[in-house]
Amino acid sequence: MALYSEKVMDHFRHPRNVGVIEDADGVGEVGNAKCGDIMKIYLKIEDDTIVDAKFETFGCGSAIASSSMATELIRGKPVSQAMSLTNQAVVEALDGLPTHKIHCSVLAEEAIKLALKDYYQRNGIDFDPAQFPQCESCGHHCHSHG
Ligand code: FES
Repeated sequence: MALYSEKVMDHFRHPRNVGVIEDADGVGEVGNAKCGDIMKIYLKIEDDTIVDAKFETFGCGSAIASSSMATELIRGKPVSQAMSLTNQAVVEALDGLPTHKIHCSVLAEEAIKLALKDYYQRNGIDFDPAQFPQCESCGHHCHSHG
């Protein structure tokens, strides 16, 4: 069996939603300290709906495929649905990732969550901090802008 599914290869070769949203409503950036990969997610949100999502990923093929798939999965969806997107859902949508590449999909989940946190903070919306990655303990380098 090939190490990477057709879907991973497709999203790696033809990533969807690459780029920057200049007037984004939320931006989230995460890095993995071990592999050094960085992922940045931009969200445009209107009426509680993700109307656009874009990403910039400086990282491995699995990280690029994960951010491409993750942005596809949340576009057009309500904020609450984007909030509950898990890295497992991204992995399933990609028809799997090798075990040692699972952390690449975690970056996508975390970057989206931090972008949503940024959106909440900018708009003074109350949120439960427990829903977000705990930066001190996870060993990653996370920060949201704003
Ligand atoms: Fe680090 Fe893939 S190897 S995100």
